[in-house]
Amino acid sequence: MRTPRSSRPLLHGRHLVLAISGGIAAYKAAYLARRLYEAGSQVRTIMTEGALRFLGEQTLAAITGHAVVTTLFGSKQAGPSPHTELARWADALVVAPATANVVAKVANGLADDALTATVAAFDGPVVLAPAMHTEMWQQPATARNIRLLEEDGRCLVGPVVGELAAGDSGMGRMAEPEEILAAVAGVFDDSLSGLRVLVTAGGTREAIDPVRYVGNRSSGKMGHELALEAARRGAEVVLVTTTAPPDMPCSVEVVPVESAEDMAHQVWTRASALDAAVLAAAVADFRPADVAGTKLARSDGPPQIVLEPTPNVLAGLVERVEPGTTVVGFAAETGGIDRAVGKATTYGVDFVVANDVTSPGSGFGTDTNQVTIISAAGERTPLEMMTKRDVAGAIWSHVTTLREDGA
Ligand SMILES: Cc1cc2nc3c(=O)[nH]c(=O)nc-3n(C[C@H](O)[C@H](O)[C@H](O)COP(=O)(O)O)c2cc1C
Repeated sequence: MRTPRSSRPLLHGRHLVLAISGGIAAYKAAYLARRLYEAGSQVRTIMTEGALRFLGEQTLAAITGHAVVTTLFGSKQAGPSPHTELARWADALVVAPATANVVAKVANGLADDALTATVAAFDGPVVLAPAMHTEMWQQPATARNIRLLEEDGRCLVGPVVGELAAGDSGMGRMAEPEEILAAVAGVFDDSLSGLRVLVTAGGTREAIDPVRYVGNRSSGKMGHELALEAARRGAEVVLVTTTAPPDMPCSVEVVPVESAEDMAHQVWTRASALDAAVLAAAVADFRPADVAGTKLARSDGPPQIVLEPTPNVLAGLVERVEPGTTVVGFAAETGGIDRAVGKATTYGVDFVVANDVTSPGSGFGTDTNQVTIISAAGERTPLEMMTKRDVAGAIWSHVTTLREDGA
């Protein structure tokens, strides 16, 4: 597997405002500014009063070639209305580090200093890199504010587990500058623009009677992240899902389904119009052969449920797509992923994303996943443990690379 597309072209010529708040990780913001500048972006910086306690404004001014904005009123660096001036100028805002204080203020729409007023005056993409001690990160108020930021469509990168200030370690360390740079590049990524893609999500439910079903533990999170990420990269998306997704942009058509049969119907009827499909749903392999018309009663004793195979959604899709459509399967395994290699090499897919759903931090209902990409030739590329959103990004980057190589 090739490495993801370089961030460099995506950042070239961009206007970026780097907003630095008062956490110990502020010192790393100088290196981030340098890397954004090297990637060809014009960078202007805002520093809060707290940030100025940790890092000299002269450093940022020298790196970026622009005076630093440190105050909302009486700013010599950005005129009488620095927040609106910077907001009009910027293609994206990057808040790194984002303190617990700034996270709270941005989540709640406060605008009482140059940093938060600029965020409030800006209607483009905002990337935040939270950084704080574990106790601050674990506060219910912080968790609530982070959820608000996510709901508002802010792009969050990190924090990660690692060394913190004063010899402490744990969750709350700011993501590394290279990771933040990649996230900033990501907001300009329109690599799926003009493509029509389909994603399946969730676990199917196979009826036993009008009330009960045979199902599985899939939450649908992985598929929902795939749909969101494809939309962020400019695709027109059809999301066929058994579980209710979070709010989706209007470029995502949500098609609710329940059983493998429903899912197969919705996927197959769209097959010929697709450029790419990623089938992340956990589809039942078997279903009750006879569905009782009325609810089974305990007094009738344990039922004998005879199972029959369900339609194979992935195999049927491969048969129906036009040549050139990229098809990706998922394989959720337990106790290793050897069986997934067979799926990758025999189904006629472009690649399979395999994970062992019993390993810690992976699988159903978690926010993270550790997956292995298996090529149609059976070559395995394990990815690191990462958020499902980042896994979605890695999968779409791989789809894009394959399509470019095949073009
Ligand atoms: C030594 C020191 C380190 C700090 N590090 C952090 C930090 O990493 N993250 C954080 O959220 N707050 C940190 N704080 C607290 C913030 O500086 C404080 O909440 C401040 O009001 C933030 O202001 P600002 O968000 O406007 O920059 C630290 C404070 C001190 C004294």
